[in-house]
Amino acid sequence: MHALPQAATPSLIRLRDYRAPAWRVEAVELDFDLGIDASEVLARLHLRRNPAQDAPLRLDGENLQLLAIALDGRTLSADEYRYDDSVLVVDGTRDGSVLETRVRLRPAANTALEGLYLSGPRETGFLLTQCEAEGFRHITFFPDRPDVLSRYTVTLRADRARFPVLLAGGNPDGAGELEGGRHWARFVDPHPKPSYLFALVAGHLEVIERGYVTADGRAVQLKIWAEADAIERCHYAMDALERAMRWDEQTYGRNYDLDVFHVVATHDFNMGAMENKGLNIFNAKCLLAEPDSTTDEEYRHVEAVVAHEYFHNWSGNRVTCRDWFQLSLKEGLTVFREQSFSADMNSAPLKRIDDVALLRRAQFPEDAGPLAHPVRPAQYSEINNFYTATVYEKGAELVRMLAGTLGRDGFRRGMDRYFERNDGHAATLEDFLAALGEANGTDLTPYLAWYAQAGTPRLKAHGHYDAAAQTYTLTLAQQTPAGHGAEPRAPLPIPVKLALFSPHGDMLPLHMDGQTSKPAIELVVVLDRAERNFVFTDVAAAPVPSLLRGFSAPVILACDYTPDELALLLAHDVDGFNRWEASQQLAARAYEELRDGTASAALHAWCDALARLFDSAAVDDALLADLLTPPGEIELAERETAIDPQRILQSRQALQRQLAERLGAENLQRRYLALLAQTGIELDAASQARRRLQRRVLELLALLDPVGAGALAATQYRDAPGMTDRLAALSVLVRSGAAQAAAALRDYRERYAGNALALDKWFAVQAQLPGEPALDRVRQLERDDAFTLKNPNRVQSLLGAFVRSNPSGFHRADGAGYRLLAERLVALDALNPQVAARLATAFNGWQRLEPRRREAAQAAIVELARQPGLSRNLGEIIDSVLN
Ligand code: ARG
Ligand code: ZN
Repeated sequence: MHALPQAATPSLIRLRDYRAPAWRVEAVELDFDLGIDASEVLARLHLRRNPAQDAPLRLDGENLQLLAIALDGRTLSADEYRYDDSVLVVDGTRDGSVLETRVRLRPAANTALEGLYLSGPRETGFLLTQCEAEGFRHITFFPDRPDVLSRYTVTLRADRARFPVLLAGGNPDGAGELEGGRHWARFVDPHPKPSYLFALVAGHLEVIERGYVTADGRAVQLKIWAEADAIERCHYAMDALERAMRWDEQTYGRNYDLDVFHVVATHDFNMGAMENKGLNIFNAKCLLAEPDSTTDEEYRHVEAVVAHEYFHNWSGNRVTCRDWFQLSLKEGLTVFREQSFSADMNSAPLKRIDDVALLRRAQFPEDAGPLAHPVRPAQYSEINNFYTATVYEKGAELVRMLAGTLGRDGFRRGMDRYFERNDGHAATLEDFLAALGEANGTDLTPYLAWYAQAGTPRLKAHGHYDAAAQTYTLTLAQQTPAGHGAEPRAPLPIPVKLALFSPHGDMLPLHMDGQTSKPAIELVVVLDRAERNFVFTDVAAAPVPSLLRGFSAPVILACDYTPDELALLLAHDVDGFNRWEASQQLAARAYEELRDGTASAALHAWCDALARLFDSAAVDDALLADLLTPPGEIELAERETAIDPQRILQSRQALQRQLAERLGAENLQRRYLALLAQTGIELDAASQARRRLQRRVLELLALLDPVGAGALAATQYRDAPGMTDRLAALSVLVRSGAAQAAAALRDYRERYAGNALALDKWFAVQAQLPGEPALDRVRQLERDDAFTLKNPNRVQSLLGAFVRSNPSGFHRADGAGYRLLAERLVALDALNPQVAARLATAFNGWQRLEPRRREAAQAAIVELARQPGLSRNLGEIIDSVLN
């Protein structure tokens, strides 16, 4: 075989090389002279020397056009500084020096959407910034690292007609007119912050406002800004923001700390949203909501992201990260806080199911392939590549384990200690664990091992019942597969929440060997070594264990259940999550039976259990919908070695058809019509649950009776009161290849021609067309007038949905999907390296494909790696994926 090419290996940044900054910036004054094509930035840095170091002043600055530089009021001559397009070195600085630089930026030419850029058309769009992780160096010369905290004074100047609204983080500190139709506004942020939290916004924007008084008595103006056509879609976000602020006061005692809180929506954004101090900036898809164009799922997402960014004000801003290796210190913690908030606002078990499903779909595959990395990576070449499911979602699971270990009050005590001790500082994960532990008189350092090693641990459980002794012995054993990383593998503390069920489905009192306290019916045992036995006494009959309840640790559990035991848990477990989990396990076994043409015990057990639940009122509509859904194609692939995504699709379809047959067409139709009769646009839990079940029932019906279901779906599409029902119907029509699909797609295209977020869903639905036809559809859609590689949301909705959410379409045996992706990556990389790199992660896992696809994928990746001039972002992903 030929040798794999190496993209030029860019220098690695290592955690173990961390050094405190040699220079700090105590205060900074920034003066912006804003224009679409060119903007100028005058920066005045008040420098402080670190007495322990004597390095010269080195400032980050990427491709800045330096217009002027002065030190302590004196213009520097060319031999007193050096700039190589990424670092500026200045001689002769001393403690207390003031460095002044003036640079020119080109916002309209900035397609990478990092630093200062333009959102929308040149004539009408607005200017905004994105600085995390290292965007500030695209704006001015600065020590662009999170452990340099400074006080910011920002003055914006611009033409009033073109830029009527001028915003920056902090409290307003004056505004006024200037000559020639220009105006200015100044903002002072009293809270020292790192450069990645700087933000400004300027242009034509509308606003909605609300007054808010914090629990500690501060009057705050909440302002949400959007372009005129979107402002009426911001009311839901405003309500969500208020709920989040109250929740953080009540749950963590955290109050907001400025007089204004701005939130801005943009259609041009690389990520979901950004927590800039006092000036959060959101991808419109995470902020705008209205019944006609927003699904229930998206409403919940908006609420969650609004809360997430707001919660960062404490977990991220007041206490920030020492370096980017600690990213999960703010992201994992804030995702956990966001999840708890959403669970409190909605249904807790459903939220847990959604979160674990996401973890399995996005994080487990990441952790099982060449892109695997610890929650705290040891090294990186491009930090933007580490805003991953591992850092966010697995990171949140680790916080959840700590919170579970300490209990509600203990965790609150620990968090109080963490905030108090680290307020105004840049902290590490060690600081976090120390605060939590010390406030509770316990040592949490064993949990650090979770942050240091990649890979999803396996937990093996085996139960043995001794009838004579009436004891039940549960043996738990752990193993973390050797991954691509070479980190040492230590046994991890794994909290396992468990219960025992009698053969009749009752929860048993748990008498632990040698334990005297009153028996509980649920408890947590911690497996803190490779293997351990847990003995329960006074057990009258062989019990069925319910393990890892609520998904108490992010592991893959293997337990030798019989199908009947899983069916018993599916029917009786009171832990909603574990009930769903039993259904998932049983469905996965049924899937294997169908795929391999072996026995059908699991298939029957699954279908029978669900048929009983379907006809009873014992379970809520939304949970029922989830119970009726087998693991997705991506999850099923994770259990295989020579992956053939098209075969997985077929076996999964066959499984669902069996379920539909067992439920019966008539029964399904009756239920569908009953749900349809009640549908509407109300957002309460029961209404959302009905819509979730209605969609699921229609999908099952479409597998049994495509023609009948097609007619129902076409009517549902036409009469839908809101987007949830409309999009569900459209998706059923498209996926089942119904005759009415084309007309519905045309209608949708026209109806939502002016609504970018709704159009994104039109692209995404079609990109998920199952199997071979998807690729041609994607090519056809790329020629649609509304398609562009310049808008990240559009790219995600078509190419992202195709390569990430459509395994059977993307992984064609002839490799055409891989070649399409590789070609688009080259074009995209020249415009926006962050978006290109994220899309490229779809190649993760190619080594486990069946041979023909594996070779085709490898050839496409190798060809891509040979392209000259790839960005550091894309280069790093390609390199890791190949090796
Ligand atoms: N801190 C943001 C959040 O709330 C994410 C920003 C990431 N931006 C980036 N270019 N990597 O999750
Ligand atoms: Zn975040």
